[in-house]
Amino acid sequence: MRATIPTPWLLITPRPLRLHALPAAAASRHGVRGVGRPRTRQRVAAPPSAPGEAAEQAETSTSASDSGEKFSWRDHWYPVSLVEDLDPSRPTPFQLLNRDLVIWKDPKSGEWVALDDRCPHRLAPLSEGRIDETGCLQCSYHGWSFDGSGACTKIPQAMPEGLEARAVLSPKACATNFPTLVSQGLLFVWPDENGWEKAIATKPPMLPKEFDDPAFSTVTIQRDLYYGYDTLMENVSDPSHIEFAHHKVTGRRDRARPLTFKMESSGAWGYSGPNSGNPRITATFEAPCYALNKIEIDTKLPIFGDQKWVIWICSFNIPMAPGKTRSIVCSARNFFQFTMPGKAWWQLVPRWYEHWTSNLVYDGDMIVLQGQEKIFLAASKESSADVNQQYTKITFTPTQADRFVLAFRTWLRKFGNSQPEWFGNPSQEALPSTVLSKHAR
Ligand code: FES
Ligand SMILES: [Fe+2]
Repeated sequence: MRATIPTPWLLITPRPLRLHALPAAAASRHGVRGVGRPRTRQRVAAPPSAPGEAAEQAETSTSASDSGEKFSWRDHWYPVSLVEDLDPSRPTPFQLLNRDLVIWKDPKSGEWVALDDRCPHRLAPLSEGRIDETGCLQCSYHGWSFDGSGACTKIPQAMPEGLEARAVLSPKACATNFPTLVSQGLLFVWPDENGWEKAIATKPPMLPKEFDDPAFSTVTIQRDLYYGYDTLMENVSDPSHIEFAHHKVTGRRDRARPLTFKMESSGAWGYSGPNSGNPRITATFEAPCYALNKIEIDTKLPIFGDQKWVIWICSFNIPMAPGKTRSIVCSARNFFQFTMPGKAWWQLVPRWYEHWTSNLVYDGDMIVLQGQEKIFLAASKESSADVNQQYTKITFTPTQADRFVLAFRTWLRKFGNSQPEWFGNPSQEALPSTVLSKHAR
């Protein structure tokens, strides 16, 4: 039965939501570092008009909600990792919106910390450092140390008295820190170091309540993918590829059929709508990076009779940098209890075993998505116009199965300014040389 499951599955242990306290005193000491605006854009997205009905509906539906709503990429919580996949004993580098961060766990407070991955001394990456004997993050270059608020606690080279002794107290000696919180087993970061008040007032995206229901088994995975956020979002908005791209892994070619999605609501926040039929798939996009699919299957088993199976596939598609995206997938299902008694199953089956299948799913998509993206990027380099405007000229999407793909492209163009708001000066370099045919791998 496992072979019929349409996505990766993994265990997630719900944990209480906890927002880290704003370190006001330390924050006030921080020098605010300049944040450059992007000069170049990754131009891939969104149809202005469409050849097919699917495109028309996606366009019309979003237009109805387009009443001057604004979307701000930086005013959101982004999940950066499953907590269970972070090593609390050492710093971990991460990129968010093209900004290099270091994630580490403060052993004194027990809180996860996100700092700019640059030492204020001479800009070495703090992620190369270590947690020192005092529980601070120590830079590996000259040994300056920083606490969980980013405040500098030690400059080993400073004279014990005078100006040098006081340098440790300077705002210029602080590392920039960002709001973080842990919710449902995920570590979230707010990407604006000046956005503490907004962060405190904003709830992170939540997994559905079924993830806390003992009748459901839950599974999680994360993997960094070398293609763009928009390419991955398009992929997870597209259940119709599963039967082909994941043939004999989670799909079967002979199961392909029309998928008649209907848009129910949309706006700057995202969109949502179901298909008709059995299984019934309800797809929701919560901007900027959360895609939820609820799959309900009515079935009948010989001994057990009528069954209502529910599968949740919740994916976070985190824009790390142009051409680089972290995928975090959390799944829950309420069947297979006959062979798998709830969560106990996952204690028997090693996590890597489930990841084996999950990685086959990622690999099945990789080659087609990188090939697809290569053409979009080439088109964006050739044209001085925004390629997003030409999406439906470049592609042909006549069926309703593509409705939510087009809805995502429309959202990205109308509300998302056609691309994530990258920090710094992102260049859209050629994709890595991992674009190999399946036969070559
Ligand atoms: S660069 Fe970090 S201590 Fe010198
Ligand atoms: Fe896929």
